[in-house]
Amino acid sequence: MSKQLDNIKFAYWVPNVSGGLVISKLEQRTSWDIDYNRKLAQVAEDSGFDYALSQIRFTAGYGAEYQHESVAFSHALLAATNKLKVIAAVLPGPWNPALLAKQISTIDHLSNGRVAVNVVSGWFRGEFHAIGEHWLEHDERYRRSEEFIRAIKGIWTEDNFSFRGDFYRFNNYTLQPKPLQKPHPEIFQGGSSRAARDMAARVSDWYFTNGNTVEGIKAQIDDIRAKAAAEGRTVKIGVNAFVIARDTEEEAKAVLQEIIDKADPEAVNAFGSEVKNAGKASPEGEGNWAKSSFEDLVQYNDGFKTNLIGTPQQIAERIVALKAVGVDLVLTGYLHFIEEVEYFGKNVLPLVRELEAKQTAAAA
Ligand SMILES: Cc1cc2nc3c(=O)[nH]c(=O)nc-3n(C[C@H](O)[C@H](O)[C@H](O)COP(=O)(O)O)c2cc1C
Repeated sequence: MSKQLDNIKFAYWVPNVSGGLVISKLEQRTSWDIDYNRKLAQVAEDSGFDYALSQIRFTAGYGAEYQHESVAFSHALLAATNKLKVIAAVLPGPWNPALLAKQISTIDHLSNGRVAVNVVSGWFRGEFHAIGEHWLEHDERYRRSEEFIRAIKGIWTEDNFSFRGDFYRFNNYTLQPKPLQKPHPEIFQGGSSRAARDMAARVSDWYFTNGNTVEGIKAQIDDIRAKAAAEGRTVKIGVNAFVIARDTEEEAKAVLQEIIDKADPEAVNAFGSEVKNAGKASPEGEGNWAKSSFEDLVQYNDGFKTNLIGTPQQIAERIVALKAVGVDLVLTGYLHFIEEVEYFGKNVLPLVRELEAKQTAAAA
């Protein structure tokens, strides 16, 4: 079977940060606590989800007042599940690659090879200031993240690892035990700027991007895949989407409208002004949030733009259209996580698999 015909994968955002995935005062039956999250992880793996992605925040950026730490929280979810892979978000700066490589190697053993990392590069200057971390310029942050990834890969795969970078140094370091997963736990990264794409092409296994239209995502994929091919590499692609699946399209659209109508304008605008430190500040101005409207920002990773809002059939068709332009994974967020992950598993996922089977048959 060719790669294009592999089943598309599904992840969900771990709500380890309070306030859910939308900056709205609409009632959300989602909790950031561990009991809720353990139950959610179990429901997700039983519903056919492949991955869960945790978030890292050191301070509140947009009313997300409480934030559990991502690596410890990811481990708790792995301990509560059997098949689900959990991706822990980590931020170079606060994390040093020696500690991260060791933490993740141990968690890989504890979870029987189910942990992965999402290396994020930082967008919130106030957060770095609050914890006494230097704030680097946009492309410098990516230069550091690339060294960080090269370092953790080297530690995970080599004995007597030595490295001379501008940010990190290693001298004949041998990590024992190495991770169970070979060659190493999967490395995801989040961000959409030119620097993010170039880094993905050179060192990451997966490129995660904010929500976007099919055309917007295709342009990114074509760019990354061409650059990766020039490096003799392949990079898998994950795209964010806020899913509102309801029995009728009207119901789904009404929920979206209510989320936006009840948005917290002060928090959305505060977030909008902070993210100018991210994509808009990249030299080419193409990164995440560079073109986001107020409504887009209500879901803080542009998840409405992907338009997985409608009936199960409409959503399944749009997912297959994303797959057709090269998307390997859809990262999903919801208003009421547990019940909506269950609904998605029951009503949307089987339709996606049916459409994929038809495509496979047609291509055979
Ligand atoms: C799927 C995804 C997950 C992310 N998770 C986090 C996170 O947990 N913590 C964080 O500080 N930034 C997170 N980010 C933000 C990115 O690391 C990056 O700072 C931001 O997208 C701006 O990068 P750009 O200028 O390359 O677009 C995430 C981004 C994406 C796309």
